[in-house]
Parts: sequence; structure tokens; C-alpha cells
Amino acid sequence: MTINADDFKQALQYWASGVTVVTTHSKTHGRLGMTATSFSSVSVSPPQILVCINDSALSAAGITESGYFGVNILNENQKDISNLFAGGASEQDRFASVAWSEGMQEIPVLDETIATLQCEVVEQVRAGTHWIIIGKVMDAMCRNGEPLLYYRTQYKKLSGESL
Ligand SMILES: Cc1cc2nc3c(=O)[nH]c(=O)nc-3n(C[C@H](O)[C@H](O)[C@H](O)COP(=O)(O)O)c2cc1C
Repeated sequence: MTINADDFKQALQYWASGVTVVTTHSKTHGRLGMTATSFSSVSVSPPQILVCINDSALSAAGITESGYFGVNILNENQKDISNLFAGGASEQDRFASVAWSEGMQEIPVLDETIATLQCEVVEQVRAGTHWIIIGKVMDAMCRNGEPLLYYRTQYKKLSGESL
């Protein structure tokens, strides 16, 4: 039995997440970055995380070629950066509009994020239209700040209230 696509999408909207920009640098495509909420921790030892990237995104080809990628976790003031890296702007315009520096293996590291993980690809699994890209974390750093959240197609802030 196959469920209705709208029901499927609607149910997934009830999953609240942070927002990341996944970045890489490959010989063929140069600097690449795209907004992704499909980020998850996988394992502590070894330290591994995953992101799910649409095969149609240029970043999928770039990460496959490079074998390295960064996960930039956005802060609550970086909604415009999320939209920039998810919209129609060229890769060149995306990186011309934000402050960033070069990390390991030429991975672009965005400024002022609340955390950045630099990763080496250890496995890529094809799943439907997407690639599940599993990375071993080579470097992790974080800053003070509050995360940008995404819930039911809207950006949100943390209320800060503990339950
Ligand atoms: C909040 C948000 C979350 C997104 N999460 C993902 C994701 O996890 N995986 C994915 O493949 N695309 C995701 N996208 C869509 C990509 O960011 C978008 O298609 C992007 O333009 C792809 O990069 P490209 O234009 O270089 O191909 C998301 C978009 C938004 C606005």
C-alpha cells in the first residue's frame, strides 16, 4: 500500500528541526552550499553524522567528488542565509553574499554559525530520490547563540522555556 503524497508531506511538517547549510569544494564544481534540515547524529565512537541530499542538487555531485563536506548549523539571525542557500542564486552569488573562510580540504566554513562540523564521507547510500551521506567528523566547533528552527514550513526561534 502506498500512502498519499500530501499526507506524507504533511506528517513530516510536524518534525521540528534546526537548519544547516551543507558546504563542500570539488574540483569540477568549485565551492558549493545548500540548506538542509535532514541532519542527524549517527554514532559517537566513531563520531559520525548524516545528511540527506537530493540527487538533483549540485552539492550531491560535489560531495561525491570531493569526499568532504561541512555542516554549518545556523543561528536564529541567519534566516536570510538559509533562504539564500535554498533559492535560485548561483553558487558564486551565495558565497559572495555571506562571510566565510576556508576550512579543512577547502570546505567553506560560514561565519557566526552556532556550530560547524567538518566531515569526511565514509558512506553514501542511495534512498529514493536522495543520497544519505554519512560523514566521519574530523573537526567540530561551536559558539554561543540560539539556533534557527524550522517547523511546519516556517522559521522559528526557541522559546527558551524548559519543560
Ligand atoms: C528549510 C529548508 C530545508 C531543506 N532541506 C533540504 C535537505 O535536507 N535536503 C535536500 O536535498 N534539500 C533540502 N532543501 C532544498 C535545498 O536547499 C535546495 O533545493 C537547494 O537549492 C539545492 O541546492 P542547488 O540549488 O545548489 O542544487 C531544503 C530547503 C529549505 C528551505
